[in-house]
Amino acid sequence: MTSESNGTGPTVGRAGGKGAPIRAHVTGWGRYVPSHVLSNKDLERMVDTSDEWIVTRTGIRERRVAAANETTASMAAVAGLRAIHAAGISPEDIDLILLGTLTPDYWMPSTAALVKEAIGNTRAAAMDVMAACSGFVYGFATAQAWIESGLAKHVLVIGAELLTRFLDYTDRSTCILFGDGAGAAVLSASHEPGGALGVELTTEPQGAYMIWLPAGGAKSPPSAETIARGEHFIRMEGKETYRFATRTLASTALESVRKSGLEPDDIRLFIPHQANIRIIEAVAKGLNLSMDRMYTNVDKYGNTSAASVPIAMAEAVNEGRVNVGDRITIVAFGAGFTSGAVTIEWTADPARGREADEKIRPEDVQVRLPVDWDSVDPIPPALAELMARPGAVNPPLDDVVPGEPEPASRPLGR
Ligand code: ACO
Repeated sequence: MTSESNGTGPTVGRAGGKGAPIRAHVTGWGRYVPSHVLSNKDLERMVDTSDEWIVTRTGIRERRVAAANETTASMAAVAGLRAIHAAGISPEDIDLILLGTLTPDYWMPSTAALVKEAIGNTRAAAMDVMAACSGFVYGFATAQAWIESGLAKHVLVIGAELLTRFLDYTDRSTCILFGDGAGAAVLSASHEPGGALGVELTTEPQGAYMIWLPAGGAKSPPSAETIARGEHFIRMEGKETYRFATRTLASTALESVRKSGLEPDDIRLFIPHQANIRIIEAVAKGLNLSMDRMYTNVDKYGNTSAASVPIAMAEAVNEGRVNVGDRITIVAFGAGFTSGAVTIEWTADPARGREADEKIRPEDVQVRLPVDWDSVDPIPPALAELMARPGAVNPPLDDVVPGEPEPASRPLGR
């Protein structure tokens, strides 16, 4: 799908006001990453790899691992509440929740539905977006369309992943790459200039089996046999994926920039999917820009799939790399193969994100468990030692009474 925003063309200085088209502005942003760190040195003890190989080939130094009581929904809810707080609205103001993930808590209900309850919203529509690592950007573009068409006033878009529970810790070509976390943005309707501009989304199904998770779906329901064959783990053809990524990321970003009536030089910061530093360097080269125009944090978190772009966006803004009036481009690629980019003219006060990080505490956010829940330790055996290290915080699995929803959070003020 390709589309031009109704806000094509540079917009700084253009008049807003009631007669102007509705635009989708990013008014809130937030992220959450678990506290457990899995370093390259840790991985050296698990598979035949080295810190040197991983850093040189990927740029990754460490990644985060969710604790036993954390899930995709719980991380998403924290990031979402932080974004809502930064936007200065209440959870009840959200009309739609879109959650990009390839690691949902369950096949059904949607993880977005669980997040809706956890953040204390009673009125939003909620659904998951399955576009792998491009899930947040696909959700963002969908939110933009809902807002520009007048269907919604405030949309919460989240990217959240718990990938460390879907990895084969005997496969050194995949287990070193991925980590856990969540990021979110609130898009709000406004007649003022700026906000989300040109969108470019692509899907190339010839890459369908280049990154995939073979079993658990209708084609291959889970069984002792599929588990014995390790088909419940992520599989990837690294080289083919690398080729696709380097080919498509720069062209997808460029399309989005041009649909906004801009050129790459007009973009203050590109915020690409954090899969591999070499891929990001290739994007910079493809756009003829220096690396200081590319935001990177792949060294800290590895590839967090759909969470990668919103975590990076929140960190870039909170670190002062994005200011009011700057144009930025978010761009991702992933399984499918999918890719997507949106160019944004930033209009929100960056200080609001830092304040939200402090205000929303993970321990205040709860996701309700089913009434008949019988906890099973979800931590992969290969990571058990890491999670048991002295000083590690490991709350009990059942810290929520099954079936009893906890109050989502403290009231959120402006
Ligand atoms: N440690 C040490 N050696 C390794 C490791 C490891 N962790 N992994 C692979 N190797 C070895 C290989 O076995 C191979 O050895 P050989 O030459 O003796 O056969 C050698 O290193 C080179 O392997 P390559 O696969 O050619 O290494 P490459 O430079 O391509 O890097 C990588 C591999 C990092 C996976 C790269 O191809 C890549 O980043 N691909 C893109 C992955 C990606 O972006 N995925 C995103 C997924 S998006 C989503 O939707 C989930």
